[in-house]
Amino acid sequence: MKNPETLFIGQHIIHLSDVDSTNNFAAKLVKQTKVISGTAILAENQSAGRGQSGNVWISNPGENLTFSLVLQPKLEAKNQFLISKIICLALIETLQSLKIEARIKWPNDILIRNKKIAGILIENTLKGKQIDNSIIGIGFNVNQAFGGDSNATSIMLETGKLNELKSILFLLFQKIETWYFQLEQSKTFLIDEAYEKVLFGLGEKRNYFKNDQSFSGTIIGVNEIGQLKIQSETGRIELYNNQEIKFDLA
Ligand code: BTN
Repeated sequence: MKNPETLFIGQHIIHLSDVDSTNNFAAKLVKQTKVISGTAILAENQSAGRGQSGNVWISNPGENLTFSLVLQPKLEAKNQFLISKIICLALIETLQSLKIEARIKWPNDILIRNKKIAGILIENTLKGKQIDNSIIGIGFNVNQAFGGDSNATSIMLETGKLNELKSILFLLFQKIETWYFQLEQSKTFLIDEAYEKVLFGLGEKRNYFKNDQSFSGTIIGVNEIGQLKIQSETGRIELYNNQEIKFDLA
């Protein structure tokens, strides 16, 4: 595989035909050795791909991108949500380059209308208060023909065209690198501004579930530690942590 046009993201690629999970592989690797920042672990097939909150990530072998990136950002753990933000933005911009309009469903999903095209599982190791290694697992649906009743979609289903996985991967690497440099230069305001522009449900009155109870409110943003801010009908602003609420996508 030729190197992507980046300075460090994806300059080292470990290409596996079969693995349990690229995040697991990356976690073992960073324990054993010093991994160069920007290294990507890419799998044709994962036998135990993992999603958020203990879910499984299922993807047809060779049809989609399933990989993990190891980064070593100079970032305190309390600011770790910025990593999720830049990865989401890079995915959104990759899709924009393919003329696909997508939104970020807080905190880590990329949606087209109400269907998921990509998901992110970030697992950080810490050294004191600092992030040591950030393992960023990305599942990006490229060529899979999900059925009409599925809640997933792919680039192929959105454009009607099959895509070479490598070219999508390299495009994504470039986008990640550009946002990573903004992060390194502490251009947090640019990241926050871009994130809110593509945040699913921002400024819209919608229904959510908390402990299976439905409530309605309006997303007004995300705070610096990644909590979702929803304004209720009474005008009260509530903060929600990851997994605390579910979106009503029906
Ligand atoms: C989610 O939306 O729930 C997150 C999905 C993350 C899936 C990717 S695929 C590559 C990497 N390895 C894993 O086991 N999971 C992530």
